[in-house]
Amino acid sequence: MKIGILSSGGDAPGINATIRGVGKTAINNYGMQVIGIQNGFSGLLYKDVVELSDPSLSGILNLGGTILGTAREKVFRKMITSPDEKDREQIKAAYHELELDCLVCIGGNGTQRTTCMLSELELNVIGVPKTIDNDVYGTDITFGFDTAVNIATEAIDRLHSTASSHRRVMVIELMGHHAGWITLYAGMAGGADIILLPELGYNMKIVIDKIQRRMEMGKSYSIVAVAEGVEVPTRERPAAYFAREIEAQTGFETRETVLGYIQRGGSPSPYDRILGTLLGGHAAELIHEGKFGRMVARLDNKISDVPLSEVAGKLRLVKPESDLVVQGKRMGISFGVV
Ligand code: F6P
Repeated sequence: MKIGILSSGGDAPGINATIRGVGKTAINNYGMQVIGIQNGFSGLLYKDVVELSDPSLSGILNLGGTILGTAREKVFRKMITSPDEKDREQIKAAYHELELDCLVCIGGNGTQRTTCMLSELELNVIGVPKTIDNDVYGTDITFGFDTAVNIATEAIDRLHSTASSHRRVMVIELMGHHAGWITLYAGMAGGADIILLPELGYNMKIVIDKIQRRMEMGKSYSIVAVAEGVEVPTRERPAAYFAREIEAQTGFETRETVLGYIQRGGSPSPYDRILGTLLGGHAAELIHEGKFGRMVARLDNKISDVPLSEVAGKLRLVKPESDLVVQGKRMGISFGVV
């Protein structure tokens, strides 16, 4: 069999571990031929490919980013959803000209949706969930998330000492797109006092009261972790908005930090390397068994798979009743809501 692998959407630590997991299993265990498709789905259209061998897949396990490059899939998405049948024929032709028996697509929600559409075109595909945001439906966790949480937690840890020295309020904004997973986990692991998530919303009075009560209790500083997806009424970033409002309404000196792409860059954590390795291996196994149109997943602590049609177009968000939110509230951490 000949298989292709591509990565699409924003990068995440662990993509290379996954490419290696798929590729080495396919080559060494199943005797398949493997090609890498460069720069996301556009590489499929332009047949921008590279042969992958066991030696070429060595030395990449601990590398951040993706050796294949990645891209947002706007043009490809337009073509695949176009009213003009010719566009879809061009996509199918590219796949067949590469003589692929299966295409493995590593990506987040958008990628899984596109991969599902390829499956509807009767192309053999397998999706592998990837994103620091941890919001892919159909899996309990995505690789990249653990690394991002580690980085974000370390950032919050570092804010404590400077916040305490200056008796300041520190607002840190974390990534996650529409989901609050990184902020919830890093906020709880880093000991934030207020955690604001898009899924829960917020009441500014509750945020202000919490900060004032902490100061009255003799706590000299406060840490606010806010997800980038939290909606604010101005055109500011959430961190800037909350820092400005908190300083204006409490009189406490307040500073903001936007952690940004640091959360996505660099070497994957051991957990993400292992998850990518296992998911990649399972993708190769599904191809060998001829089970296409599925996304590999981690469900109930087991590696498994789900139909792409059940995943496409859905988001996995933090539930207000999730254990970590409930436990945070029980300990007096404010989520900005009652
Ligand atoms: O999906 C991962 C992510 O890093 C989000 O957390 C963030 O909102 C987005 O990608 C940033 O995307 P871009 O790379 O297009 O700036």
